[in-house]
Amino acid sequence: MARVILGVSAGIAAYKSASLLRLLREAGHRVRVIPTADALRFVGEPTWAALSGEPVATDVWTAVDEVAHVRLGQSADLVIVAPATADLLARAAAGMSGDLLTATLLTARCPVVLAPAMHTEMWEHPATTANVALLRKRGAIVIDPASGRLTGADTGPGRLPDPEELFAVVQALLARLIPAGNTVLAGNTVPAGNTVLAAGTVPAAASLAGRRVVISAGGTREELDPVRFLGNWSTGKQGYALARSAALRGAEVTVVAANVELPDPAGARVVRVVSARDMHAAMLAEAGIADAVVMTAAVADFRPVARSDSKIKKDGSQPDPIALTENPDILHDLAGRRAREGQEGQVVVGFAAETDPDPQAAQAKLARKGCDLLVVNPVGNGRGFGSADNEAVVYSREGSQTPIPRGSKEALAEVVWDLVAARLR
Ligand code: C5P
Repeated sequence: MARVILGVSAGIAAYKSASLLRLLREAGHRVRVIPTADALRFVGEPTWAALSGEPVATDVWTAVDEVAHVRLGQSADLVIVAPATADLLARAAAGMSGDLLTATLLTARCPVVLAPAMHTEMWEHPATTANVALLRKRGAIVIDPASGRLTGADTGPGRLPDPEELFAVVQALLARLIPAGNTVLAGNTVPAGNTVLAAGTVPAAASLAGRRVVISAGGTREELDPVRFLGNWSTGKQGYALARSAALRGAEVTVVAANVELPDPAGARVVRVVSARDMHAAMLAEAGIADAVVMTAAVADFRPVARSDSKIKKDGSQPDPIALTENPDILHDLAGRRAREGQEGQVVVGFAAETDPDPQAAQAKLARKGCDLLVVNPVGNGRGFGSADNEAVVYSREGSQTPIPRGSKEALAEVVWDLVAARLR
């Protein structure tokens, strides 16, 4: 259980934060909601009070005897402001403290997450860009808004990520503060006495600030006819955990997602594909400017030789066998592209789901694919696909093995990025 402050500023997306609040409370956290006065025009005080079970104030003149404007920030484990409007970002960047939310941002010594949501023009305005850059420099975690439908008919960057995704961000950050027996992350606590806004929770050495990463996620589908396909059970959870985690470390993240039905990972750009060949084209196109490429997707090794344009019907006779042909190996081709283009500094990571993992076979696969790291995770008997947990051994090109004990997919993602960041240095 953690003490979380949920700041809400005056954007229409405030309604999504009511769901975020519910998720935080259901996870056992104590949540104090601090709306701005104008935010109450969108969602009223009784909603926040009832869902949080805590008093709600917007100004510094309520419960003055408790010195709330200082105490709330000081005692929080994490502050998340969702939605953060252009106005709120500007006031936070300027260090203003005229209401309870901005005063809390000045007194917080814990991680501070800002989830902007606004119209594209406001997000792209140089004033907002400069404010975001300044807030990030001071250690605040500013999540790039998602692209998509905004209020009204317009679309573009500016959407608040889905509540489930913001909840996952909070849980990932809290897990980093309280590492659960994770040696790679041990000692990774927020430094005391950090500046205006709380510093990020990733040690500088493991930061991905300024890095571009491309991650494949999900499972490809190979069409047999307009209504049928050959596919696999991959849900995209591990790839999305990697994307969220990289974005929180400051990376510019692109996810090439094959048939994933999860909310878009916070802070990442999502490119959608269906088949292995689509993914091959998208990954090779994106890889050119990437510092790291990670193939978590379950890619079909084979596809039907032919796709029928009309639905295949049964006619009482013995059905034809499905003739298959091999798909390109994307990971192998990404490593080949890197060598061809002289991009030696790029880190290429593969995943391998194995029902019976074996170190020699893993090292041989790593060499065959030409990647730097291969994350081998056992599947079958309830492990792997679709489950919340994962475990793995990460093999490196140099022959080292890093075991990752059974834990959340988020925890596994953190170890993978620690290893990638070490190679990028
Ligand atoms: O050979 P195997 O399928 O076990 O290799 C797994 C790794 O290779 C994963 O990283 C997967 O994304 C990648 N892969 C690929 N293209 C394929 C098959 C697998 O990139 N056609």
